[in-house]
Amino acid sequence: MQIAIMGAMVEEITPLLEYFNHYETVEFAKNKYYLTSYKGLDIVLAYSKIGKVNASLTAATMIERFGAQKLLFSGVAGAVNPTLKIGDLIVATKLAQHDLDITVFGHPYGYVPEGAVYVESDRGLLALAKSVAERKKLYVQEGIIATGDQFICDVDKKEWIEKTFNADALEMEGASVAVVCDALQIPFFVLRAISDAADMDAGFSFDEFLNSSAKISAEFIIAMLDEMVHD
Ligand code: ADE
Repeated sequence: MQIAIMGAMVEEITPLLEYFNHYETVEFAKNKYYLTSYKGLDIVLAYSKIGKVNASLTAATMIERFGAQKLLFSGVAGAVNPTLKIGDLIVATKLAQHDLDITVFGHPYGYVPEGAVYVESDRGLLALAKSVAERKKLYVQEGIIATGDQFICDVDKKEWIEKTFNADALEMEGASVAVVCDALQIPFFVLRAISDAADMDAGFSFDEFLNSSAKISAEFIIAMLDEMVHD
């Protein structure tokens, strides 16, 4: 089983690279892909660089070039739901692109022609996350993640995203990865730990908590791999 693990920023995959320790590096399309194996699972690891275009390229490359059969995304997010605090984990039940707007043609915000507003995550991976959370006595909130090519640091914009997409958290890659995985029929899963509240302090908060929250997310991914080994 070849498993892809991706983040957007180097900080999001560094805890995983450090954990695996030995890996082969392959360069492709101006990016690096790290190949390793873990307890019999073949793993391809990469950070895409931020934004939907980079994330789509990386997800498609991991699947088409490196043969990934499942994709796990690990990283940080801005909280929309006020119950989510710094360091809390959220796993996406479904994802939407909040910056996709063809409403002038009568479609809802986020609607992709010949597609839908939301792409749903793989139920098997959601169930696996739930059982890992129970075993490790960790709380992982399930919720809707909204994605766009903007770092959100504005309460009005955040509230618009909450109202329009019923979103619990927001970031800049998840929904594009979801679209790619859905098209290529690859089970996927997006996990994020909160780094900020997408408000006027978000930039400072992000800088302060990027590393620690990225580590929380990465550690949960490793626990999921441990569970997959036993499947
Ligand atoms: N990722 C983490 N925090 C974010 C924010 N406030 N906006 C967009 N992406 C993020």
